Parts: sequence; C-alpha cells; structure tokens
Amino acid sequence: MPAKITRELFDQVILPVYAPAQFIPVKGQGSRVWDQNGEEYIDFAGGIAVNALGHCNPRLVKALHEQSEKLWHVSNVFTNEPALNLAQKLIDNTFADRVFFANSGAEANEAAFKLARYYAAQRYSPYKSKIIAFYHSFHGRTFFTVSVGGQAKYSDGFGPKPADIIHVPFNDLDAVKAVIDDHTCAIVLEPVQGEGGLTSATPEFLQGVRKLCDEYKTLLVFDEVQCGMGRTGSLYTYQQYGVTPDILTSAKALGGGFPISAMLTTNDIASVMHPGVHGTTYGGNPLACAVACEAFDIINSPEVLEGVQNRRALFIEQLEEINNKFKLFRQYRGKGLLLGAELQPEYHNKAQDFLNAATESQVMILNAGPNVLRFTPSLLITEDEIKEGMRRLTKAVEKVVNA
Ligand SMILES: Cc1ncc(COP(=O)(O)O)c(C=O)c1O
Repeated sequence: MPAKITRELFDQVILPVYAPAQFIPVKGQGSRVWDQNGEEYIDFAGGIAVNALGHCNPRLVKALHEQSEKLWHVSNVFTNEPALNLAQKLIDNTFADRVFFANSGAEANEAAFKLARYYAAQRYSPYKSKIIAFYHSFHGRTFFTVSVGGQAKYSDGFGPKPADIIHVPFNDLDAVKAVIDDHTCAIVLEPVQGEGGLTSATPEFLQGVRKLCDEYKTLLVFDEVQCGMGRTGSLYTYQQYGVTPDILTSAKALGGGFPISAMLTTNDIASVMHPGVHGTTYGGNPLACAVACEAFDIINSPEVLEGVQNRRALFIEQLEEINNKFKLFRQYRGKGLLLGAELQPEYHNKAQDFLNAATESQVMILNAGPNVLRFTPSLLITEDEIKEGMRRLTKAVEKVVNA
C-alpha cells in the first residue's frame, strides 16, 4: 500500500473518466463530511441523491452490521430472506406485483428496456421494438441505456448503437404523437429529469403519454432512479401525478448508500419471462437488501416524506437570500429535495465554477448541466445544517461573482 493515499494517486491509478474534487472524504455523519485533514464539509449533494438518510445513519449501520454476521451472498441459484422482504415492501407500496433486483440504476434500466422489447416480441410481434425516449434524459452508462438516454455526448464514439430508438422533446405530447405507432414497444421517461436540468413532467404530458401507451399497446417505463424513494416527497414521484407506469426503475436512495437497484412491474408483463432470460450475480444480495429494507421503512414514513417539502421551502428561502444579494438565479426547478436553481443568462456555463467555489468554501453541491445548480441532500438534513451550508455557499457565490 502507498505510504500516504493522496489525491494525486487518483490521477495515476484510476481510469480518467471522473474529475473528483481535490479533497478526499474519509468520514461522514448525517449531512457533514470530513476530509483527510479533518476539515468539515456540509453535504448538499448526498452522493448524487443516494444518501437519502445521511451518512452512517445508525439504523442502516445496525442493519448492515447484523446482516454481515448472518449471510453475505448466495447468488440467485438460491433466494434469501432480505431480498424477499424488500420485494414485498416494494410491492405493498406501489403498483407492482413483481421485482427484479440489480446493482445500479443503469442495470435496472437495462432490464426494463429488455423486458419491454421482450414482452412486445412475445405478445405482439418481433417488429414491435421501437422505443420513444426524450432529449436531455439520462438512464445510465451501459450501451443500451446511453442509447436510450437523450444526450449524444454519452452515446457517441462507441460504434453502432442499438437501433429503433427515437428521441423527441420532453413535455411535448404532439412530438410523441408524431412518432408513436403500432411498432412502439415502450415510452421511457424520468418524471423529473435529473441529470438533464431538473425539468419536471407536466401532469398533462404524463396523462397524455399514458393514454397513447394504452392506445398503441405500448409500455410506459418510468425511470425513478434519481427522483424516487422519497426524494420528491412521496415514495415514488408517479404517485403525485396519479399516472401509473407499467415498469418502474429505482436505485440510488433505495439502498441509502449501499449499491442496489430494482425494476418493478406487473404480473402480466412479468409473465413473459422465465429462468435464464435475464439475471445478474449480485442482484438481491442479502447485505444490500437488508440495508434497503431498513432504508425503506425510514423513508416510507409520514415524518420523512412530509419533511421533504419543509426542507425544500427552507432551501429556497435561503437561496432567495443569496439571490437578493447577487441576482444569480432565474428560477427554481425540480420537486422536493431534487432541487435545481437555474442560473441567470449572464452566468450560463458557469455552474461548474460555482460548484468548485462551493467545494473550496466547504459545502458540497452538484450541477445539472452547465446552467443549473443542483441540491440533493439527505432527506433528514437539519435546519442548522441547511443554514450553515448556505452561509458557506454565499461566500462561494461572492467569490465567483466578484472574480
Ligand atoms: C434518472 C437516472 N437513471 C439512471 C441513472 C444511472 O444510475 P447508475 O449510475 O446507478 O447506473 C441515473 C444516474 O445518475 C439517473 O439519474
């Protein structure tokens, strides 16, 4: 092992697909993180909407510890109690009858897109393979999921892409009507586009898309990898719209920081699958599922879900104080604690500068594209933590504006 682990080592040993901050976090508690030098940071990023219950939540630590002394892994040649327990919780609290577990958002989406194509081929025709997706959407980094995602910068350069995928503008029902036909197997969307800038679907759009799906025997797939699991104030965001998908994917906050994802669907759609059609070694891993069961019970409680809107209100109140001083933000976007602050045109393309300055001022934030600052903190973040983080963000903003 190297004598001292430094940030420079990253540049020598890790594939250069990330550009992490200069500090290395070594410890976290609630919404505070400490680096190798003992410097403390306020965490408004939450591991990109993953640490929904903060760092080292004692109930999650306990669940992990207890499971770690019982059973770590058995593969899907056998089933296990935590996986079945978690599947039952998901089914009892959503539209779904069946669950497939995987390890990341991309894998849950990969399963969803394969299932949609497989179902259409089995039930209707092998030519019913068209997938309609949306510009600025993000569904993960496997080749199928970058291809369905609506950002060419993630899918170009890797050779021939999977065919029969069409992208149209988000929230534009006429654009969907213009391309949907009997060969369409699925419409795929994020109810709130996360990476793409925190645009929320309009209720009319989701209702219209649902109607079109019914008309053309097309499956509606909601990617709730980022906006699900309490982040917007309900267990899943579709529940606020009253529009039910046929397939839903969940990840990120599902394990509260332990890698796990799930694809949810109905009995009818699941009935086309049989052993061997799809799978993954780690899917339903007992450690991941035991932690996710505990995270689920905490998140799916009135106190936590109702607290989301109050916290959003405090975030916006504090951001408005910054805005009164610096005229920085044009509007607030997203829902609940999937919160975006869109920069005024004169600050366009500067989101990364604000993010870097925030890090220097010891508050962790995110961007969503070049023009939106993104906040995805713990759903349990305290008033004190929000105010302290905003005090630091104010200093950071001052530096960039006066640079
Ligand atoms: C909406 C959405 N779908 C899918 C993914 C991919 O998830 P993962 O990085 O866990 O594969 C992400 C990740 O940011 C996401 O925001």
